[in-house]
Amino acid sequence: MAHRWMLLVLSMAAISFTAGCRENPAQVEAKPGGYVGSHVCGQCHDRIASTWKTTPHSMVIRQVNGPDDPAILGDWATPPDFTTKDASGQSVSVTSLGDLKKSDILLVHGVLWKQRYINADWEVQKFQWNMVDNTWAPYHFSDPQGPNWKTDCAYCHVTGFRPADNSWAELSIGCEACHGPGVAHVKARGLARANTIVNPAKLPWHLASDICGQCHTRGKTPDGKQSYPAGFQVGKRLLPSMFQVAGYDDTSAWWPSGAIKQHRQQYPEWQTSKHFQAGVSCMDCHTTHSTGNRFSTKVAGNNLCLGCHATISTDPVSGHAPIKDAPQHSDCIGCHMPATGKSATVGDERTHTFKVIPPRLTMELGDGDVNKQPNSCNSCHHHSKHAPEQLQARLDAARRPLPQTP
Ligand code: HEC
Ligand code: HEC
Ligand code: HEC
Ligand code: HEC
Ligand code: HEC
Ligand code: HEC
Ligand code: HEC
Ligand code: HEC
Repeated sequence: MAHRWMLLVLSMAAISFTAGCRENPAQVEAKPGGYVGSHVCGQCHDRIASTWKTTPHSMVIRQVNGPDDPAILGDWATPPDFTTKDASGQSVSVTSLGDLKKSDILLVHGVLWKQRYINADWEVQKFQWNMVDNTWAPYHFSDPQGPNWKTDCAYCHVTGFRPADNSWAELSIGCEACHGPGVAHVKARGLARANTIVNPAKLPWHLASDICGQCHTRGKTPDGKQSYPAGFQVGKRLLPSMFQVAGYDDTSAWWPSGAIKQHRQQYPEWQTSKHFQAGVSCMDCHTTHSTGNRFSTKVAGNNLCLGCHATISTDPVSGHAPIKDAPQHSDCIGCHMPATGKSATVGDERTHTFKVIPPRLTMELGDGDVNKQPNSCNSCHHHSKHAPEQLQARLDAARRPLPQTP
């Protein structure tokens, strides 16, 4: 009698499992390359899928459902107001959106810093909406033919990009962008499922970070043709065979000191850091399936750093901040990750070299001008009484022996 009950319970469990799956995974039809889509992964990994849906990765590209779609954040009632160059190189003041119509938009691109608009011919439009300060700004304004989203941008903003025909399996950064194509994993049963999909936690730290580095980077393929590592497979090496990072001679990407001038350069910066050498990966500081704060760090603010650098003191008087009579400094990120990069506006992204940029470098590399070479101190101290040479003097005069890290 008892085992008949057991059987009933077991078969009910089996039924409810199948009922939970909207599609029978064994019958899922894969897209070219073996991609099934995040909605299929979510049928079994439902907890991960539901928190992933709250991450910016999952939302970065949206297909628009008519001109009233709330995904369109740009304010068409506020006219633009900026000066830029037109196609003939003349300075022009721009006060209207020209022929940019909401009804022409197919895709909206961006949710954090800025939004760009793509039409049905995959053209990226010449106006972008900056969320940082709620203004319109120019984008490739002087190019008669701006970038083509399919061939120039998609790889890093979609899942399962196919270089052969510039197509993709899913918009935005789905599960398989980091785990690789999932059809074999989804169709396997029981023990046969083992080792059918990439788990970054089982990779060495540098190969796991290469997964992030396929998008969080800037440069070209070795043949110079693409600005993304077309054909990269997660779990394999990214550099140098699949991609070459923009060199320091590219002054549009780097400040003279070797800190970022633009965005999406976290991977090459991190590679120059002590963290890289010591095996501290992107995942040691960032969450991947969920987000608890704006940039998805595991712990907010200084506590992230102090979790590992426990011996660095934040005591306001005797603490680490190496400036005499200025105990106000305990913001690790403020000095060690100054905001030198630009996504929408100058200084809206932080460097990932984790090196303090001393004011001395503004003197030596930027003729004393923070607009030619920013530094850690002036990122907070904007006043003239805090000219770079004065700040450097305070730093030199007061630098006491720094505490040792364990
Ligand atoms: C039919 C249910 C099912 C579907 C659909 C499914 N998984 Fe899994 N997945 C599992 C089970 C069960 C495990 C754990 C046991 C195992 O590895 O055999 C697992 C394990 C994993 C692991 C860890 C593997 C390891 O080696 O440690 C990853 C990563 C993963 N799944 C990702 C995905 C992704 C991405 C998708 C969508 C492409 C997906 N899964 C779809 C059932 C599923
Ligand atoms: C931005 C990259 C990224 C995306 C997107 C992503 N994952 Fe992961 N996943 C990881 C990393 C990295 C790990 C290794 C553990 C860790 O560090 O979080 C992992 C681990 C896993 C594991 C192993 C169990 C665990 O939690 O450690 C499963 C299962 C999994 N992911 C499923 C999914 C599913 C399902 C989705 C989509 C809903 C998804 N992942 C989206 C990067 C990603
Ligand atoms: C090598 C990969 C790569 C390429 C190529 C690329 N991007 Fe990005 N893009 C990223 C990454 C990674 C981010 C987010 C990280 C950051 O900005 O530091 C981003 C951010 C953005 C954002 C801001 C998103 C937001 O939420 O604010 C927009 C808009 C954008 N990209 C548009 C484009 C367009 C248009 C192109 C083509 C002309 C393009 N990208 C080419 C990787 C890439
Ligand atoms: C030692 C910790 C640490 C490591 C390692 C790390 N990050 Fe970050 N990351 C941060 C902190 C802190 C911020 C800024 C958070 C804030 O401003 O609130 C940040 C911000 C970001 C941002 C937002 C844009 C910006 O740059 O300000 C992106 C994207 C990002 N990290 C990606 C990555 C990637 C990809 C890797 C690996 C190549 C990585 N991070 C490694 C700590 C880290
Ligand atoms: C397929 C390309 C791609 C991959 C792979 C990828 N990212 Fe991103 N990442 C992006 C894009 C695009 C954005 C901008 C999303 C947005 O603004 O909505 C972004 C945004 C971010 C941000 C800032 C927004 C937030 O809070 O999430 C962080 C941090 C980040 N990525 C870390 C990582 C890490 C860590 C990995 C590896 C585990 C990774 N990314 C893998 C393309 C990618
Ligand atoms: C997961 C642990 C971990 C986290 C989180 C972490 N670090 Fe580190 N950090 C290390 C390790 C390990 C080293 C290399 C060994 C050493 O010098 O202590 C290192 C090295 C450094 C160095 C270089 C030290 C030198 O000798 O030149 C600086 C600066 C630094 N970290 C700052 C930070 C800041 C700022 C944060 C927060 C944004 C942070 N770290 C978060 C583990 C971590
Ligand atoms: C006022 C700016 C400032 C602040 C705030 C600051 N640091 Fe530093 N830090 C420095 C300077 C300057 C050095 C000396 C190395 C250099 O010149 O690059 C340094 C060196 C370090 C080193 C390497 C030397 C050592 O002590 O082993 C680590 C690790 C470090 N800081 C971590 C932190 C952490 C963690 C915090 C937050 C509690 C923090 N710093 C806050 C400016 C600062
Ligand atoms: C995260 C923001 C931040 C960063 C980065 C920062 N400071 Fe400060 N600093 C402050 C604040 C806030 C005060 C106290 C208010 C004030 O006096 O402006 C202060 C005060 C000072 C003072 C004493 C007040 C004065 O005017 O004489 C000096 C000196 C100083 N900082 C030097 C530096 C130097 C040198 C660096 C770079 C190594 C630096 N600061 C980086 C925020 C910062």
